[in-house]
Amino acid sequence: MTKVWSVDNDVENTVEKLRSCTQIVDAAHLLRDGEVVAFPTETVYGLGANACSNEAVEKIFLAKGRPSDNPLIVHIGAMEQLSSVAQDIPAKGKQLMDAFWPGPLTIILPKTDRVASLVTAGLASVGVRMPDHPIALAIIEEAGVPIAAPSANRSGRPSPTTAAHVLTDLEGRVAGVLDGGATGVGVESTVIDVTVDPPIILRPGGITREQMEAVIGTVALDPSFQVGAVETPRAPGMKYTHYAPEGELWLVTGEAGQAREKMRDMLREAKQHGQKTGVLASEETLSYWKLQPEADVILSVGSQSDLEEVAQRLYAVLREFDEQKVQFIVGETFTRDGLGMAVMNRLEKAAGGRILSV
Ligand code: TXA
Ligand code: MG
Repeated sequence: MTKVWSVDNDVENTVEKLRSCTQIVDAAHLLRDGEVVAFPTETVYGLGANACSNEAVEKIFLAKGRPSDNPLIVHIGAMEQLSSVAQDIPAKGKQLMDAFWPGPLTIILPKTDRVASLVTAGLASVGVRMPDHPIALAIIEEAGVPIAAPSANRSGRPSPTTAAHVLTDLEGRVAGVLDGGATGVGVESTVIDVTVDPPIILRPGGITREQMEAVIGTVALDPSFQVGAVETPRAPGMKYTHYAPEGELWLVTGEAGQAREKMRDMLREAKQHGQKTGVLASEETLSYWKLQPEADVILSVGSQSDLEEVAQRLYAVLREFDEQKVQFIVGETFTRDGLGMAVMNRLEKAAGGRILSV
C-alpha cells in the first residue's frame, strides 16, 4: 500500500510551517524508519530514503528497478548538513553553492564515510544538492538525515512532474507519496563535477552553463553532449536509455518546411502500417498539424521561444503519448542555448538516438 498525503502548494507555506503539518511529520517519520517516500522538488519528484542507510537506499533501487552502478543524488535541507556528506569542498564548489542553492544544481564532491556505499555506487564522490522547494526542504529537515533521492519514476521512464506520474510508476512499490502539485522547472538538476578543474557538466539541467560561467569562469561540457558524440558519458546514469515514451520517437531537424514534409511522410507510412501516430509539436506548429490527417495525437510542449515552458511540459507530454497509446511519434527540435541544452539532451535520450536531419 502506498500512502498519499496532499499538501497545499500555498505560496504562504514556509519550511517552518510545513514542518509542523501532519503530512510532513508522518512522511518524515517513515523516512527515519528506513522507508522510501516520494516528494516534490522544484525540478521533478524525487524518491527519498535515508542516505546514511544501505538498507533504506536499497529499497529505492528495488522500487525503481534501477541498475546498482548508477549513483543517487543526496539532498540536504540546510548548509549544516553538508559536512556530514561531503568534505574538502573546492572553492568553485562553494561559489556555486552560494550562487545557486537552494536550486536545481547537483555538485559532485568528495564524499564522507557517513554516506551509505549504495548511494554512490562505490564511487569516492557524491552528488549533493539543496532543492528549492518548501516541501522538500521541510521533509529533509524534519527527517533530520540527508536524503538520497533519484527521480521518482521506474527506471527508463520519463521523470515525474506530478504525484499522479509517480503513482502510475510506483504505486504499491513505495511507502508513500507527498502530493505537492506540479513541479516548476520540469527537467532535472544540472550535475557538475567540481573535483576537476575546470569543473565539468555531467548532465545539463535547470541551471545553465552560461549562468555558472558568470560565477566561476570556464565550465567544461562532458564530450558526450556534443551533437553526434560517441563517448560514454561520465555520469553513470547518462549511459542508459532514459525518459523514453513507449511509442517509437523520432526527432527531425533541419529547415522547418522540409522537416515538416519529412515528418508527414513518416507519419503517413506509420499509419499505413496500422500504427497510432503522434506529433510532439510547439505552439508555433500546432495549427499546422491539426490540419494534417496523418497525425492522430498532436501535443504541444510550448513555444519555441519559451524554453522554460518547454522544459516544464516535456515529461508530461511524453507520458501523455503513452496514456493515449501512441505507437509512432515524430518530434520537433529546439535551440540548444540556455535551458535548451537540457531540453534537447532529454529529447535525444527519449528518442534513443533516432534523429534525422533533412
Ligand atoms: O533534479 C534532480 O536532480 C532530481 C531531483 C529528485 O532532485 N534527481 C535526479 O536524480 O534526477 P537521478 O538519480 O535520476 O539522477 C542523478 C544523476 C545520474 O545521471 C547519476 O549518474 C549522476 O546524477 N550522479 C550521481 N552521483 C554521481 C557521482 N558521484 N558522480 C557522477 N555522476 C553522479
Ligand atoms: Mg532519473
